[in-house]
Amino acid sequence: MAEVVPDGESRNLRVLAERIRSRRTTKLFLRQKVSKQLVLDAIELARWAPNHHLTEPWHFYMLGEKTTAASVELIRTIVTETKTAELADFKAKSAAAIPGWLVITCKKSQDELLQQEDYASCCCAIQNLTLYLSEAGIAAKWTTGLITRDQRFFDLLEINADQEFIVALLWYGYPKVLPTQSRKEVAEITTEKP
Ligand SMILES: Cc1cc2nc3c(=O)[nH]c(=O)nc-3n(C[C@H](O)[C@H](O)[C@H](O)COP(=O)(O)O)c2cc1C
Repeated sequence: MAEVVPDGESRNLRVLAERIRSRRTTKLFLRQKVSKQLVLDAIELARWAPNHHLTEPWHFYMLGEKTTAASVELIRTIVTETKTAELADFKAKSAAAIPGWLVITCKKSQDELLQQEDYASCCCAIQNLTLYLSEAGIAAKWTTGLITRDQRFFDLLEINADQEFIVALLWYGYPKVLPTQSRKEVAEITTEKP
């Protein structure tokens, strides 16, 4: 059993708090690849997220080189269709520089409450996963860009859009830089009731 110490004084608690606080989104990565085993270990941890009715609604698609290259070209196509060819070229080049691609989907449900709860579970799973990666020195960017809702992406990954939807396209890698972030004060976001 872990030591029970009030007021967050235990070393473990302080380390954990710092881990959670220091996870940062970044999109600028070094070229260095992340080991496949490390990502599998992160997925192993992700699945321990709470999930109501034990639906385990998530699925993880690890994209290899061929699928990543096709995804980059799909981003180029989508941005050309919706914006400009110049921006498409920039987005495609940026995407091509990203060393790690992981897609997380959630099971679709006809039941509105179950769908909400399943989505919440998938988000918890992603947080587990990114915290684990962060502890290993790997940063990520959770994206929900147009590609995550484009049928061509589903076709590429052979995902049945009637059964699953994409919660995140997670880009990951060893960060070039980590941005800083701030949050509102606890008092601002907390209301105590008698
Ligand atoms: C559901 C969800 C979708 C997101 N989609 C995007 C996105 O499409 N593009 C992006 O730049 N960041 C996206 N983010 C990342 C947030 O912008 C980021 O978490 C936020 O800026 C706070 O930074 P932090 O993660 O370093 O605390 C997303 C985050 C979540 C939880």
